Amino acid sequence: MLNSHFGLQSSILTLCMCVCYRGNHKVEDACEMYARAANMFKMAKNWSAAGNAFCQAARLHMQLQNKLDSATSFVDAGNAYKKADPQEAINCLNQAIDIYTDMVRSVLTTTSPVKNRTP
Ligand SMILES: *[C@@H]1O[C@H](CO)[C@@H](O)[C@H](O)[C@H]1NC(C)=O
Repeated sequence: MLNSHFGLQSSILTLCMCVCYRGNHKVEDACEMYARAANMFKMAKNWSAAGNAFCQAARLHMQLQNKLDSATSFVDAGNAYKKADPQEAINCLNQAIDIYTDMVRSVLTTTSPVKNRTP
């Protein structure tokens, strides 16, 4: 019964994804749906499904250029996967690290005193 419930849920998610790729607003809605689904999977202790849903949310956030939200979702995905699929957890955490590293790098380059110094 639990499984058929989640099966239905993932079909709804898939259906929604098709609609959602048409505009940013829809992508944002999809992000929120994935995050909500992920939290439901977490409550049901379905860690790999939760990790997967967080991962999808993270990818959508990336599409929207929401780097911080994306990294946060990858960390959530990693934490969920940790209980079911350690290798996948590492993948997600590595992606989060890449995003954080990239963010730090861009802060350093845009605020670098060397670059902004006027003669
Ligand atoms: C977890 O969710 C997935 C996706 O809906 C489902 O295929 C799988 O059977 C579920 N696993 C458990 C243990 O409930």
